Amino acid sequence: MLTAESLGKSYGDECVLSDVSFTLGGEESLAIVGPSGCGKTTLLYLLSGLVRPDRGRALVNGVPVAGPSPDISIILQDYGLLPWRTVLDNVALGLKVRGVGRRERSERARQQLAELGITGRDADYPANLSGGEQQRVAIARAFVTRPRLMLLDEPFSSLDALTRERLQFTLLDVWKRRKVPFVLVTHSLEEAVVLGKRIMVMSGRPARPVKVFDNPGFGNECILDTEECFDLLRQLRRTVEEVW
Ligand SMILES: Nc1ncnc2c1ncn2[C@@H]1O[C@H](COP(=O)(O)OP(=O)(O)OP(=O)(O)O)[C@@H](O)[C@H]1O
Ligand SMILES: [Mg+2]
Repeated sequence: MLTAESLGKSYGDECVLSDVSFTLGGEESLAIVGPSGCGKTTLLYLLSGLVRPDRGRALVNGVPVAGPSPDISIILQDYGLLPWRTVLDNVALGLKVRGVGRRERSERARQQLAELGITGRDADYPANLSGGEQQRVAIARAFVTRPRLMLLDEPFSSLDALTRERLQFTLLDVWKRRKVPFVLVTHSLEEAVVLGKRIMVMSGRPARPVKVFDNPGFGNECILDTEECFDLLRQLRRTVEEVW
């Protein structure tokens, strides 16, 4: 369970985020949409502990986030893979930090990669992978430590439509088995509907949540074909047009 309590952040004199509050249940996901530059990445940084808020606090299972922790996995906007490490080492890194022995971490990393459809690439370097493969390695790395919370910053942004759709459902599939709560930032309203049990629209300067939508069809693989989803997308579009 994640709680954001009146989070605020300024860079210099500029207040970027103000009074961001929400809760996310233990088996839920939250999709965040908002205009470019409004502070979505900054919000994920605050939730991850990588950046400290100026005001308010984030709590995971009631414990304040005081700094980066292996309990919280974050996938950065540019995947954040280490170019000088192999695919297998990139995925196993979080396990190494946790003191898991070499054999076990290789085994778990390989298993996680296979779950995401990457096999036989253990010794490759990120530069030799396609964008979609790199994104899957980044997701494998985030899941392998069995975190309590996942934060994803536009994880599928650079993919073609079909690969993107496939990976969205791969993520949903892995999530169904693990039920790790996640927060996902996206610029695509359709992606927000596929991956968000709730969808938060942010706007303003400083930015804050302006509306949160419930998405009862979340988890349905055919959600984009349903009347319900069509309605939700229409409401989302209307809100976005009004507030951005
Ligand atoms: N380290 C920093 N120092 C100063 N200003 C920053 C810093 N990081 C971000 N900003 C500014 O804070 C604002 C919010 O940035 P942020 O990256 O959080 O936006 P975003 O919503 O993720 O945008 P995008 O959708 O383009 O990724 C921007 O105006 C940005 O220029
Ligand atoms: Mg961003």
